[in-house]
Amino acid sequence: SQQSLRLHHENLLSTNRSSIFSGHHGQLSLTAVFLDEYRDRLFLGGKDILYSLLLGPASSESKEIYWPPLPGNREDCIQTGKEPQTECANFVRLLQPYNRTHLLACGTGAFQPMCAFISVGHRGEVRRCEDRQSNGRGKVPHDPSLPFASTFNGGELYAGLTADFLGRDSVIFRSMGGRSTMRTETDQKLLHDPKFIAAHLIPDNDDKDNDKVYFFFTEKASEPGDREGAIHTRVGRVCANDVGGQRVLVNKWSTFIKARLVCSVPGPHGIDTHFNQLEDVFLLRTKDERNPDVYAIFSTISNVFQGFAVCVYRMADIREAFNGPFAHKEGPDYQWGAFEGRVPYPRPGVCPSKITNQPGREFGSTKDFPDSVLQFARSHPLMWRPVYPALRQPVLVKTNIPYKLKQIVVDRVEAEDGQYDVMFIGTDVGTVLKVLALHSGNSLETEEVTLEELQVFKVRFTPSGVFFILSQALYVGSPAGVAQVKLHRCETYGKACAECCLARDPYCAWDGSLCARYTPNSKRRYRRQDIRHGNPVLQCVDQNLSEDIDMTEDKVVYGTENNSTFLECVPRSPQATVTWLVQRDDRKEEVRR
Ligand SMILES: *[C@@H]1O[C@H](CO)[C@@H](O)[C@H](O)[C@H]1NC(C)=O
Ligand SMILES: *[C@@H]1O[C@H](CO)[C@@H](O)[C@H](O)[C@H]1NC(C)=O
Ligand SMILES: *[C@@H]1O[C@H](CO)[C@@H](O)[C@H](O)[C@H]1NC(C)=O
Ligand SMILES: *[C@@H]1O[C@H](CO)[C@@H](O)[C@H](O)[C@H]1NC(C)=O
Ligand SMILES: *[C@@H]1O[C@H](CO)[C@@H](O)[C@H](O)[C@H]1NC(C)=O
Repeated sequence: SQQSLRLHHENLLSTNRSSIFSGHHGQLSLTAVFLDEYRDRLFLGGKDILYSLLLGPASSESKEIYWPPLPGNREDCIQTGKEPQTECANFVRLLQPYNRTHLLACGTGAFQPMCAFISVGHRGEVRRCEDRQSNGRGKVPHDPSLPFASTFNGGELYAGLTADFLGRDSVIFRSMGGRSTMRTETDQKLLHDPKFIAAHLIPDNDDKDNDKVYFFFTEKASEPGDREGAIHTRVGRVCANDVGGQRVLVNKWSTFIKARLVCSVPGPHGIDTHFNQLEDVFLLRTKDERNPDVYAIFSTISNVFQGFAVCVYRMADIREAFNGPFAHKEGPDYQWGAFEGRVPYPRPGVCPSKITNQPGREFGSTKDFPDSVLQFARSHPLMWRPVYPALRQPVLVKTNIPYKLKQIVVDRVEAEDGQYDVMFIGTDVGTVLKVLALHSGNSLETEEVTLEELQVFKVRFTPSGVFFILSQALYVGSPAGVAQVKLHRCETYGKACAECCLARDPYCAWDGSLCARYTPNSKRRYRRQDIRHGNPVLQCVDQNLSEDIDMTEDKVVYGTENNSTFLECVPRSPQATVTWLVQRDDRKEEVRR
């Protein structure tokens, strides 16, 4: 069987596995974070406040600045009927490094978004540049509860958001830097009530002209066979060097295209169960910066069924969908199909580069693109073929669980017998699940191994988007504060070789006397680890297997005849099975439901 641990809040704090920073004024109301690896600092944005923390034990020294809405804006906001506490404040939603000395910070400013430069001193002192406060429209949403996604690149900010007071103008914006502002046209074909989850710049090849910014979002579906109002998950992209058209699409994206991301499992009667709602995206970056693995959490929630799945996508499959046919519909009464006519040149979605800029066909900028290309791009933003996950199925599925999966980060760990992707999944009940998905042999089936379940926060909450790994620690944000949690604490698994082996934690190995951090390439003689099978008999045969391990815990409950007794046993491990036996005289019998 499998030994995995369920660790409680108090236990995590008392063993120094985790520490929590909650601000200096009670509730931190955390809404943004930026981790500065060079200065070893964590910058946190909250309600009317910004913190600068030294990394390390989270309670250590911190600096802060107060950053309220502009004079009068709080009152105006309350006047329009908004909630004074939860809406009419400056919720900092964006923190980005701007240059060596300054951060860019943007907040909701009581429904009047604003941005400011924050100077950071040598010892982490933060100061807001009073004279450089600017309008934050198109950079963060007005409403602190609305989702948005952004990425900062080459001095320019790419943001997917709603950019108006009512939260109806859904756009992908590019602002700042030297070039003129770019946006998507207002057209439901392009974006239909989108909810943006993530934005990332991912290069295509060595030519920077082919750099593309990818957006991961959900929107109302328009495709064939779908019920009215169905939600689909999309990956959309624009070229970083898109400057819009010359006569049409002036200052509007001319390279925007999108494809559906599918995450589904085969169901009974040949009908797949689709997980359509995107919850979070994590890019597992590798040495090859053009080909990160895209991990995504999806949900499907109905009255009868609540399920979650993690799917992993390869960039090659995403690019293939974008290189495939465009989705096309002849008219309102026609079926959707693949566009089979002639696609104009340069093909929509292709960035202007050396390839498109040839003698006789000089397309050095999107402003040179023929009107026919721009018209086609505008009328065919959706690709016909969807993107399927690697192996065509999720790596993890959870159904009918009493909590929601909300956030994911993945750490690729080197172990004795290869590499493992350890997933850390944040839930809405304050826990973090540390999970492995293993492929057993040649089969497509994945085996899910929950290594640990960490109760980082005591309360149920809506995650605040803070969820990342740095220096062997996971940072988890909640409205109540930010927790720093060590990725492993091998000694927690026990004092015996078998316990360490059964844990199947790629971070840990039995070193002959202890369950300790496994370090690849070290020359230690004893390094017992069996992630794939967790078989202690093979690994620990010479390691006092029998005497110091007892995997069962007994609990005795007395009952009265003809009366009821509540049988309760909350096991330490989420993988444990609980068996109740009733003893009458000398005989023990299992109690079945
Ligand atoms: C946790 O850290 C504190 C302060 O550094 C230290 O005094 C204490 O002994 C540590 N506890 C454990 C269990 O390591
Ligand atoms: C960084 O940007 C700020 C704001 O534009 C500017 O005042 C400052 O001089 C810049 N610093 C450097 C080192 O470029
Ligand atoms: C096994 O246990 C015995 C008795 O407790 C001890 O003498 C021996 O050194 C142990 N062997 C190992 C390999 O730990
Ligand atoms: C329990 O209930 C059974 C059947 O109703 C009865 O025969 C028996 O005497 C009861 N035992 C006690 C201890 O009340
Ligand atoms: C049954 O158990 C409950 C709770 O232990 C007790 O209050 C009650 O008196 C018992 N009834 C009988 C008939 O023994």
